[in-house]
Amino acid sequence: MEVGAIPILLVAVVLVMVPSAVQSESCDLHKFSNNKTFALCQELPVLDAELHYTYNATNGSLSVAFVATPPEPSGWTSWAVNPTGTGMIGAQAFVAFQVNGTVRTKTLNITGYKEIKPGNLSFAFWDVSAEKKNDVLTLYASLAVPGNKTFVNQVWNVGPGLADDGSGKLKPHALTGESLMSKSALSLTGAPVPTAAPAPSTPAPGNSTNTTSGTLGRMKMSGGFDLSLISAFMASMVILCLF
Ligand SMILES: *[C@@H]1O[C@H](CO)[C@@H](O)[C@H](O)[C@H]1NC(C)=O
Ligand SMILES: *[C@@H]1O[C@H](CO)[C@@H](O)[C@H](O)[C@H]1NC(C)=O
Ligand SMILES: *[C@@H]1O[C@H](CO)[C@@H](O)[C@H](O)[C@H]1NC(C)=O
Ligand SMILES: *[C@@H]1O[C@H](CO)[C@@H](O)[C@H](O)[C@H]1NC(C)=O
Ligand SMILES: *[C@@H]1O[C@H](CO)[C@@H](O)[C@H](O)[C@H]1NC(C)=O
Ligand SMILES: *[C@@H]1O[C@H](CO)[C@@H](O)[C@H](O)[C@H]1NC(C)=O
Ligand SMILES: *[C@@H]1O[C@H](CO)[C@@H](O)[C@H](O)[C@H]1NC(C)=O
Ligand SMILES: *[C@@H]1O[C@H](CO)[C@@H](O)[C@H](O)[C@H]1NC(C)=O
Ligand SMILES: *[C@@H]1O[C@H](CO)[C@@H](O)[C@H](O)[C@H]1NC(C)=O
Repeated sequence: MEVGAIPILLVAVVLVMVPSAVQSESCDLHKFSNNKTFALCQELPVLDAELHYTYNATNGSLSVAFVATPPEPSGWTSWAVNPTGTGMIGAQAFVAFQVNGTVRTKTLNITGYKEIKPGNLSFAFWDVSAEKKNDVLTLYASLAVPGNKTFVNQVWNVGPGLADDGSGKLKPHALTGESLMSKSALSLTGAPVPTAAPAPSTPAPGNSTNTTSGTLGRMKMSGGFDLSLISAFMASMVILCLF
């Protein structure tokens, strides 16, 4: 009995403490339309974005609200889960974009820098919507967490508006700075992200608490940043006009 109670207590403590360590004022203060609320919030380490989320471990579903400001008033924002890697390639993306001032959404199945097409995602998703308040876009989505894991690799970005050619494609995001660093591991439960985990894995519940270091996103950013990936990004970004 007591042996079982201690890990549960530890998890409870981590659930309370870790989110507060990454929660900023803007996480706390953010108000959603329709009185929506989310269990956890992560201030993402770059691009001044935040992710509010609720994970239902019973059925493995995740509901998110991605809050970010595009670099131009008519721009787009995107939040993605990458079930097969840590960067843009493989990302299964939700996008909020604007057409003549109206906010719309779409999904992108990003299989390569050349292969950015609207499409179904590799996991079930529902309730995708977006809204704009001042210049801030909020992108809502719910999904069945791929592999039923408790960690996912997330990727996010912001960019200017749509291509001038009327194709409906997104103009590419910046090819420098924070736009190339916008990926991290996301703990769905609030438990610490294992440090050496390029791909998400399910830790044994209870003793993952021992790897705690307090910062979810930043920890992963410092460990997961990869120069060769940047060169790959730089070399391929021209093609990103297709995005
Ligand atoms: C939101 O909450 C406020 C106060 O709790 C309530 O007055 C209002 O009707 C709610 N709005 C919706 C859309 O539920
Ligand atoms: C989680 O999902 C289960 C199964 O669909 C549902 O019964 C339960 O109410 C959900 N929990 C929350 C907090 O929504
Ligand atoms: C899982 O639970 C969430 C609420 O937490 C609900 O919105 C969703 O529809 C459920 N999914 C399934 C497949 O039951
Ligand atoms: C996900 O995991 C939960 C808890 O272990 C389990 O009840 C559920 O059946 C799993 N869902 C799927 C789709 O594997
Ligand atoms: C945007 O508005 C302009 C002017 O009202 C119109 O000509 C154009 O067709 C609209 N574009 C779309 C995609 O709705
Ligand atoms: C997307 O997937 C769903 C469920 O697998 C399917 O019903 C739907 O037809 C697919 N849509 C497209 C455009 O492929
Ligand atoms: C995503 O694109 C790849 C490559 O074209 C394709 O193999 C895969 O089936 C697509 N995924 C979905 C869910 O449509
Ligand atoms: C995690 O806990 C389980 C059971 O409590 C134990 O068997 C296992 O050795 C632990 N793993 C680590 C890495 O401490
Ligand atoms: C946590 O890790 C330390 C060493 O880093 C080890 O001595 C301790 O037994 C571990 N505690 C648990 C509960 O696994």
